Amino acid sequence: MDVLQQRRGVAGQDAVALSDPLSLHRRLAHWNHRRLAPSAPHADWQADLEEDLAMRRLEGMWVEAFRAQVTDRAAAAPTDVEGFVRWFEALKTSGPGQGDPLFPWLERDAGHEEMNWFLTQEAAGEAGFDDLVALSQVKVPTEAKLELARNYWDEMGRGSEAGMHGPMLERMVATLGLNPTIDDTVWPSLALANTLTAFATTRRYAWHAIGALGVVELTAPGRVSCVGAGLKRLGYPPVARKYFELHAMLDIKHSEEWIAHVLRPLVAEDPSRARWLAEGALMRLESGARCFEVYRKQLWESPERRLAAE
Ligand SMILES: [Fe+2]
Ligand SMILES: [Fe+2]
Repeated sequence: MDVLQQRRGVAGQDAVALSDPLSLHRRLAHWNHRRLAPSAPHADWQADLEEDLAMRRLEGMWVEAFRAQVTDRAAAAPTDVEGFVRWFEALKTSGPGQGDPLFPWLERDAGHEEMNWFLTQEAAGEAGFDDLVALSQVKVPTEAKLELARNYWDEMGRGSEAGMHGPMLERMVATLGLNPTIDDTVWPSLALANTLTAFATTRRYAWHAIGALGVVELTAPGRVSCVGAGLKRLGYPPVARKYFELHAMLDIKHSEEWIAHVLRPLVAEDPSRARWLAEGALMRLESGARCFEVYRKQLWESPERRLAAE
């Protein structure tokens, strides 16, 4: 087989992989788990390298196909600082998935089992905001780097283990006895984590990563305050609610600071970045919107629920 045929063969396999998002995102999720885990020297390192090449190609094809769906909307974002900030802030109300009916339902109506299923999906799809920030700040300009450092320090509980955000989520999972696994998670939730991981680990998506993380800070408070209120209504203990109640308040401040010290200086220095920041933000919100839709289908249209309602 010559090189061209080999390339066509690989492209054909990749196209098949893209047409089956469940298996694609399970593979990407398992690979991300393997490649990001601290490890020791081992004899199979060249086999890992070959797997990395194949998986990075698949990951790139996924991201590029996804980019194509938002690129026109992102190209319409203004490239002057004031215009871009207004466009970005408007995503809070009019961005994909904003105002999804899932959240008022979680706040007012969901039962224990339904809430636990939702939390398990969310926990399995969590890529670790702290590590994403750390990976995204490599070589970025000073003012943005400093803000990412302050944000990371908050993720680290400002040096106190009890205040670290990641372990706070893990304590919620352990307290409720949840068992999040890649193979029991709906594909949009895995895709959300895989997309953010691709952004943070691939330097050609550096601005996408920063746009995506910034839009999490902008939009999380609305969602997590509903989840926190739902947990309280159901009588869940404070240890299970803390992660949500903390982010309902703290991310309002994080968002203001991300806009002032990350987005503003990055766009002022190079207006061409606006488009990539916008693509990242839109792709993160689209990823969330796909999750909410599948969660609602599962929670509202499952046979058990239909039977219970009859
Ligand atoms: Fe956090
Ligand atoms: Fe935050």
